[in-house]
Amino acid sequence: MNRSEPARTTVGIVGGGPAGLLLARLLHRAGVDCVVLESRDRGYVEQRQRAGILEQATVDALRASGAGDRLDRKGLVHDGIELRWDRRGHRIDFPSLTGGRRVWVYAQTEVVKDLIALQLHDGPPLLFGATAESVSGADTDRPVIHYVHEGRRRSLACDWVVGCDGFHGVVRRAVPGSELRTFERTYPYSWLGVLADVPPSCDELIYAHSPRGFALHSMRSTTVSRLYLQVPNGTEPSSWSDTRIWEELEARFAVDGDWRLERGPITQKAVLPMRSFVTEPMRWGRVLLAGDAAHIVPPTGAKGLNLAAADVIVLARALAALHDTGSTALLDAYSDTCLRRVWRAEHFSWFMTTTLHADPGQDGFTTRLQLSQLDRIAASPHAAAELAENYTGLPLVPPS
Ligand code: FAD
Ligand code: DHB
Repeated sequence: MNRSEPARTTVGIVGGGPAGLLLARLLHRAGVDCVVLESRDRGYVEQRQRAGILEQATVDALRASGAGDRLDRKGLVHDGIELRWDRRGHRIDFPSLTGGRRVWVYAQTEVVKDLIALQLHDGPPLLFGATAESVSGADTDRPVIHYVHEGRRRSLACDWVVGCDGFHGVVRRAVPGSELRTFERTYPYSWLGVLADVPPSCDELIYAHSPRGFALHSMRSTTVSRLYLQVPNGTEPSSWSDTRIWEELEARFAVDGDWRLERGPITQKAVLPMRSFVTEPMRWGRVLLAGDAAHIVPPTGAKGLNLAAADVIVLARALAALHDTGSTALLDAYSDTCLRRVWRAEHFSWFMTTTLHADPGQDGFTTRLQLSQLDRIAASPHAAAELAENYTGLPLVPPS
């Protein structure tokens, strides 16, 4: 524990992933007092391999929270992506299609490390190994988080409780089931994600459609590649040898011309299931949900982390306005404001996923539709701009 354990706070945040940590920093800067409870230890949270692409609004918020220094030094700015299909590549140029927008390659692990270092340096309190078990009084003025820390049961009385505790978190359960609606899609495939100690074989990410399934070439730095392969649900990472992974990647990225996939030592392998999920509303009484606790997207299109950041940017502004002016207007609008953006990202992630992956037993009709859609993006600046605008991120608060 980094300081004495508080029994009450203004905003109790459950979950020290990107959503909880960024919210805590933004609230701290706005003079709003809060506490973060995280069930895992620091090492686990900092090493958890996940997303890698940041939108402009996420980068701006990290800078505003004081966590922009290493990002500005080490982040890679990308002006486009390549779509690959039928042995052809087509580049989507973001700035020319979106009025100057671009994205940053900077791993979620690094975002989390930067936020934790700041938080432990000057607060607010962040407790590792603190597992929330339940929240009581969601519909009262003083909700309470019940948690276990260092083997002892404790409680934290709050003005507001924010569930940033991911898809399997407990805060969502504080809301009566009759008050929540959930929407869900599962997909008949997963991703095998690997990290490899080899410089990326491309300057920008490659999203590949192939008859053998989807593949993605991403990166973590100029010396580390991050690669993904579509695999059947239930795949064991150990059933894929390193040689088999490289051969399959080569087959799926095959393109006319002299491009080559460089191989190197694989240092991590994991299988990620894919799901779309939305909870409505994102606020009930004094309990609010943010990030994966409220919604999940399949990873194709890199929206998960950015959506989590967008939620807490909107929420931090709302809580700061309440603190400064006493007005709950922004808090009252929180759920509707976020859900408009969430559903746009849900649609984009579903579109990217279903356009680029091959369902098991997919028929020729569906494949022809996918190829026609990819041809359309290559032929029409309007279709390309639609993809580029969604990929680089839409405005935080849409024009009404
Ligand atoms: P999380 O990062 O899940 O953080 C929630 C935190 O809450 C965790 O630290 C957890 O330990 C803590 N917690 C949970 N329950 C409790 C409790 N009871 N008490 C206290 N703490 C609790 N997105 C992409 O865009 N691209 C990707 O490649 C990609 N890969 C992913 C791979 C995996 C395996 C997963 C699960 C997600 C991936 N995502 C990816 C999505 C992206 O990482 C998430 O959208 C992002 O982490 C959301 O941040 P969050 O803070 O809302 O949730
Ligand atoms: C990464 C993950 C994605 O889902 C994506 O669309 C792009 C990049 C990544 O982990 O680098």
